Amino acid sequence: ASYAIRAHTCYIYIRGEYVHERERLEAAIKQAYEAKLIGKGNVHGWDFDLFVTHGGGAYICGDETALMESLEGKKGQPRLKPPFPAGAGIYGCPTTINNVESIAVVGTILRRGASWFSGFGRPNNTGTKLMAISGHVNRPCVVEETMSIPLKQLLEDHCGGIRGGWGNLKAVIPGGSSVRMIPAHEAETALMDFDSLSALKSGLGTAAVIVMDQSTDIVRAIARLSYFYKHESCGQCTPCREGTGWMWRVMERMATGEAEMKEIDMLLDVASQIEGHTICGLGDAAAWPIQGLFRHFRHEVEERITNYRAGKPHVQGASLQAAE
Ligand SMILES: Cc1cc2nc3c(=O)[nH]c(=O)nc-3n(C[C@H](O)[C@H](O)[C@H](O)COP(=O)(O)O)c2cc1C
Ligand code: SF4
Repeated sequence: ASYAIRAHTCYIYIRGEYVHERERLEAAIKQAYEAKLIGKGNVHGWDFDLFVTHGGGAYICGDETALMESLEGKKGQPRLKPPFPAGAGIYGCPTTINNVESIAVVGTILRRGASWFSGFGRPNNTGTKLMAISGHVNRPCVVEETMSIPLKQLLEDHCGGIRGGWGNLKAVIPGGSSVRMIPAHEAETALMDFDSLSALKSGLGTAAVIVMDQSTDIVRAIARLSYFYKHESCGQCTPCREGTGWMWRVMERMATGEAEMKEIDMLLDVASQIEGHTICGLGDAAAWPIQGLFRHFRHEVEERITNYRAGKPHVQGASLQAAE
């Protein structure tokens, strides 16, 4: 891939927590240097250096411009665009940034042909994708599957189905914590691709599928995600810095039922004002899980608030408020 774009240098940035993976990667790169597959004067006649660098565990360093800042030894904060990385990226040089998953499949595509790869999935949603399934399935796993595979088939074939059977499913977050959830009846027919999931107002995202069965305290689950985004916000832009903390605090009160009924619309209004008004996608990522919750389970939150006022507080799940 580097040769194709005439690049003499490539960096692989890996999360700081992945120590074993980094050691394996570094050992493989050392072998490639020794075999003269890469480096100066290599067998290909194209001088090429490959460096591994690691972060300190901040989620925001996954954003491509924050990643470059971190790689340059600075605080990992997303850059304002333009300039885009293709024009001025790492150390001011033209830069192409991809997930290793995207690059890893290029060799196979070149060997077997583009039409072979695009033969998987349906038009506009072609190829294969790593899908990571966690939560209330019998066998959580990571699999490479064809795009557009029915979500139900993915869970049945690879994960041994939902804990307690399909009827015990409550909701699925199909594309990593930042996308909106879909309820069980939509999960029944959803396809794991861009078009199907966006038609359901969700998204394929990273295809990291989070499965939640009927035992899930769904309001508490989203409050926990709100805490995560508040914690990971780099604090650079006001809507995200202030909004993620505000949304989390309100979500905590939604989870116990202490919130006011009118705060539901206020929360959704704030979420919509964060969405699309920040430097990077973390602002959207913080807003979407909340929007997904109220789109499908607003009645549960309203019931919780009503019960709290009737002297029947909700007890399930632990609060993170005490941790602050
Ligand atoms: C807050 C945030 C976190 C991100 N984290 C990751 C990540 O962990 N891994 C990743 O590949 N892309 C992540 N991205 C997306 C990258 O900015 C970029 O779009 C992606 O790496 C491009 O590679 P691809 O086209 O091969 O998917 C993140 C984006 C944002 C806004
Ligand atoms: S959206 Fe949040 S994480 Fe992204 S640059 Fe702004 S403050 Fe930082």
